[in-house]
Order: sequence, then structure tokens, then C-alpha cells
Amino acid sequence: MLVVVVVGGIDTHTHLQMPFMGTVSIDDFYHGTKAAIAGGTTMIMDFVIEQKGESLLEAYEKWRTWADEKVCCDYSLHMGVTWWSQKVADEMQTLVQEKGVNSFKMFMAYKDSFMLNDGELYQVFKHCAALKSLAQVHAENGDVIAQKSMEMVNQGIMGPEGHLLSHPEEVEAEATNRAVCLANQATCPLYVVHVMSKSSADVVSKARREGKVVFGEPIAAGLGVDGHHYYNKCWRHAAGHVLSPPLRPDPTTPGYLMDLLAKYVSYVESVSLFIHSDNCTFNADQKALGKDDFRMIPNGVNGIEDRMSVIWEKGVTSGKMDPCRFVAVTSTTAAKIFNIYPQKGRIAVGSDADIVLWDPNQTRLHVVQGVGRFIPTPANSEYVYGKIRARVQANQPKAVERDPYTGPVVKVNQKM
Ligand code: URP
Ligand code: ZN
Ligand code: ZN
Repeated sequence: MLVVVVVGGIDTHTHLQMPFMGTVSIDDFYHGTKAAIAGGTTMIMDFVIEQKGESLLEAYEKWRTWADEKVCCDYSLHMGVTWWSQKVADEMQTLVQEKGVNSFKMFMAYKDSFMLNDGELYQVFKHCAALKSLAQVHAENGDVIAQKSMEMVNQGIMGPEGHLLSHPEEVEAEATNRAVCLANQATCPLYVVHVMSKSSADVVSKARREGKVVFGEPIAAGLGVDGHHYYNKCWRHAAGHVLSPPLRPDPTTPGYLMDLLAKYVSYVESVSLFIHSDNCTFNADQKALGKDDFRMIPNGVNGIEDRMSVIWEKGVTSGKMDPCRFVAVTSTTAAKIFNIYPQKGRIAVGSDADIVLWDPNQTRLHVVQGVGRFIPTPANSEYVYGKIRARVQANQPKAVERDPYTGPVVKVNQKM
């Protein structure tokens, strides 16, 4: 029987006990991290998401209080930016310089709650770049989704299939492309979270081939299942799969996304560098908040426990990747991107002893509540900012030196 020693997994995207859509995700920091460890993950990165207008620092402290007493494994925090002002900019700086946060997530969807417009996004990207931090985006066109959701409702489509129909693949790809453009204009590295479709993955792939500093990562659920479940006759079954962006009905999508994760030719040619879960669980009764209207179904699925098994089964057992690539996509690359390597992501003298005995047939462990620590993530990751630094130098806009214009100037009629 094969048992391998691997470095503990890092799940870079979780939402534990997150207040969202009128309820709170059911996995708290105890149950969520317990599940993580059971699945071979020894560190998670969770998202602080403040309400529009709320202080980022206060939200951060709230999350720390929730997490510190409960976590069974180490954790870091990303910060959401759901509104924009000078105060937000100042708080982002404090978070980076004093609170161990080096990444920010912005939403192009969830109109009227978390969504930023393009002008705001551009400014946040500029600020992320100035802080040498990583900008993450939820890439879907929130305006179009709001319109299409109304269209579904007007046509009497109220079930979970309405969620899929109002979040088309093209709308994900459009926002991904827009995010790539805005981040590039701001000379800011970009990380597109939960890439759910082939077309969105293609946008990331093209950007990387062009040399842009863009990362685009799939989620475990997106590699394991497709979107035909939204048409299931059982409401609970269908609603259980509701997340944004949704799983895609094209049955070749999971294999396509897996191939991108598995194919490692070089840093640039590899599209997906690691895999996260986007664990944001709501039980069936919570999902039932949307029993009469798909727009009220809390968005999110599980994956914190199963992420590594999914990759092992779909990647290693299928022969698409070897165990070394498995370690890279479940741990090491994430540690490098979030600037905590070699403390994390490596088995070596001086590194944290996050060691997992990986037995594909037996993976459940014991846990102790509260033993996890907060791991600060320093800014200016070489893996992320290496190229950006040179690019800023090379692309400095320069004014043309010329003699001042001294000729005639037409008079402006002030009344016009
Ligand atoms: O549907 C999802 N993905 N729920 C969690 C919140 C988010 O957008 O990441
Ligand atoms: Zn999201
Ligand atoms: Zn998420």
C-alpha cells in the first residue's frame, strides 16, 4: 500500500463562520479547521469580509477573535475590500504593515453588497501595487447578473437552475478579462479566485502567455463535479451546488481545469499553480432560505476536507500528475505566492513541522482546538513582485521635453 510523506496542505481560500446572505456559514473555525486537518491540510487562509462602510481594521480584529480561540491548525487572513475611500486606503496600509495581511479580495459581482465599480477597482489595484500586496478578484459581471436574474424571475424560473442561467460562463470570462486589463493598467499582480469555466481559464492562460503577472486558480468542487446538478429534480440536491461563479454544465470542464493544474511545463506555461477549496458551507436548512427564489440561496459549497483527496484522485490516481506536482499545487506554490515559504510549503530544518502521512485509503487525524497560530503574511513576495518591480522601472511614463508653446490661443466663450 502506498503511503507518502508530504508537506501539509495550504488551503488559500476558505470562508469559516462568515456572515453572508442573511445567515452564517455553518463550518466555524473549529469544525472547519478540524475538517481541514482530517483531509491533510495544515494551514488555511480565510477571508475577512467587511460590510460596505465598515472599518476594515475592526472587521479584521473581529475575525481574529473568532479564529484564535478555535483554530486547530495555523491560519492567515486575506482582507476583502467592499468599498473605497481614503480611510479604506489607510486601513489597507495598516493591515499590510502591522497586521500580517498581504492580499485583498475585490468583488466584481454581488451588486449592492460587495461589488466595486471599475474606477474603484482600478484605484484599489493601484493601492495594492503600492503596498506590494496581491489583488484577488471574484470575476463575474455583477450588473449583468442582476439583470439576468430579474429576467429569470419574470419568466417564472425560481429554482436553483435560475442561478446557473443568470450567471453564464461568458459573464465570468468577460469580468476575468476586465480584471486582467485593469490590473495590468495598474501594474498590479492579479489573482483570479475560483476560476470555474474553460473560457475564464483561457483568459488567464492568454494573460500568462503574454507575460502578465496573473494567477487563476480552480476550486476542488470545480474539478470534481459539473453543473448538471442544478437541473436535479430534488430541490435540496440542486441548491446544495449553488455557488458563484456556478459549476458549469459542460461536462468537459472539470477535466479541462484539472489538465491546466497538472500540466507543468514552466512557470509561465502553467496556468493553474495551486488549488483552493472556497469552502463556504451552508446546510440544507440554510440553503432553504431560497426555496422560493434562487437569489436568496446562500452561495457556497464545501471542500476544505476533500480538496487534497480530489486532487489525488483526479490528478495522481488518474496519472495526470505525479506526487511532486501534487505537493506543489496543494501547498508549496501557495506558500511562495503568499510569501511564507519556506516556513510553510516545505519539509526542512527550520520550517514548520507540517507533515502529513498521506495514505490514500486512510486520512483522518485527531485535532486539538485552539492550537493553531496566526501566520503573518509579509508583503512584497518575490514570487509575485519579482517581475513587477522591473516593469515599474521600465514603464515609467515620461513627459516629452519641449519648449513651452508661445503662440496664439483661441478665446473661450465662458457662457457656452
Ligand atoms: O459562492 C461562493 N463562492 N461563496 C463564497 C463567497 C465567494 O464569493 O467567494
Ligand atoms: Zn468569490
Ligand atoms: Zn470565496
